[in-house]
Amino acid sequence: MSAPSVDRGQWSGKLGFILAAAGSAIGLGNIWRFPYTAGENGGGAFVLIYLGFVALIGVPVLLAELAIGRKTQRNPVGAFKALTESKFWPMVGGLGVLTGFGILAFYSVVAGWTLGYLYMSLTGGLAGVTEAGASAAVFTNLVTDPVWAIVLAGAFLLLTILVVRGGISGGIERATKILMPLLFVIMLILVIRAMTLPGAGAGISYLFKPDFSKITTTVVMSALGQALFSLSLGMGAMITYGSYLPEKENMPFAGVSVAFFDTLIAIMAGLIIFPALFATGGDPSGGPGLVFVVLPTIFNAMPAGNFFAVAFYALLAIAALTSTISLLEVVVSYFVDERGWRRDKAAWTIGGLCFLLAVPSALSQGAVAELGTGGLFSWDFLTLNNNIWGNYSLSLGAILISVFVGWKWGIPSALASLEASGDRLPAAGLWGFLIRYVCPVVILILLIFIVATGTYF
Ligand code: PHE
Repeated sequence: MSAPSVDRGQWSGKLGFILAAAGSAIGLGNIWRFPYTAGENGGGAFVLIYLGFVALIGVPVLLAELAIGRKTQRNPVGAFKALTESKFWPMVGGLGVLTGFGILAFYSVVAGWTLGYLYMSLTGGLAGVTEAGASAAVFTNLVTDPVWAIVLAGAFLLLTILVVRGGISGGIERATKILMPLLFVIMLILVIRAMTLPGAGAGISYLFKPDFSKITTTVVMSALGQALFSLSLGMGAMITYGSYLPEKENMPFAGVSVAFFDTLIAIMAGLIIFPALFATGGDPSGGPGLVFVVLPTIFNAMPAGNFFAVAFYALLAIAALTSTISLLEVVVSYFVDERGWRRDKAAWTIGGLCFLLAVPSALSQGAVAELGTGGLFSWDFLTLNNNIWGNYSLSLGAILISVFVGWKWGIPSALASLEASGDRLPAAGLWGFLIRYVCPVVILILLIFIVATGTYF
């Protein structure tokens, strides 16, 4: 393996890596999707299964990706090239790069909505929204307005580009070292607020008391899909972030910390939303509109509600930003390492192209339908992108990465990379077993399930 031809940059240390990688993992998946998915799938039982999957599938795959990244110090395509002679495996990396691009194109649309809500909460646009109908109308107005939908997604991508072009320690690490602590503080304030609302107890027990009669195949499968998506697995984000971690740093510790924080933040998001929901008599199975449609009415019913609304939407935007940064970074790292592009040029070019691809998604939530056109224009591109990239591609990627590490590259080599600093991976034997036998099979079942039933997570 030759030394990297360009100066790729590195994290300044373990903390920089943990914050950036936790920033990638913690995103809309935790604060927007986890609560409504848990709500639709019966609460506590879903949460319990989710935790099991994080430990038995998520952490092993996360460590596998980190091992590949650190050993090769390359983007996903270059990493597979460095470890095999075969033409097939670099294509798996290529699929990851493409997936990063595809996810970014719809993720930035929803992320744009968080900016829209932050703006509305700051300028009084959410004031007086006290009942569900009015709140739904505010949401519909935002997402069906073609100008807003496009401008907000564009603004979000612009923020992402500005961070990524600054490089690893000077851009991503610098931004996440401010944003992640801020996120945590806001989150803590909101958890305390929600949990001290009268009637909050019902929400807390909904989240933690498993009702096993609620468990169905769909619940189990959504929990697994949510675990993969939430930990940013299956597309090489963790290969890329791991590639910037110096050899002297304790990688097992760093990896497990990332999974721990990601899970903690998802639970905390549940501890904000469910107590607030139950305190005001809301319905937990509100679906994707939960944080955009249901929460504004709850904020308006609280003393100093507007303050908490601003805090919440700022939190959502921050969480989304540290994730879009990692999505763009995967693609940028490919063009920097493999094509010798300057980082600056790569960030602007890829970010700009992604904006073009985001436009159909941004317009697909009603804006085009308002114009009365049919055919291709009425496709729900946002959902389509989520299904293709966020579901099929991530699951396939996670299966192939497990197979690669377990059967091709081999557990001993991967373990040597994980333990390069001299720090041991606890239960290394169990990890090898999970990566070889359990992860590929279980994730394959998920993939077959979503393809066969048309259910998505
Ligand atoms: N993990 C992020 C979230 O939960 C989404 C993501 C997926 C980011 C894959 C990067 C790669 O929102």
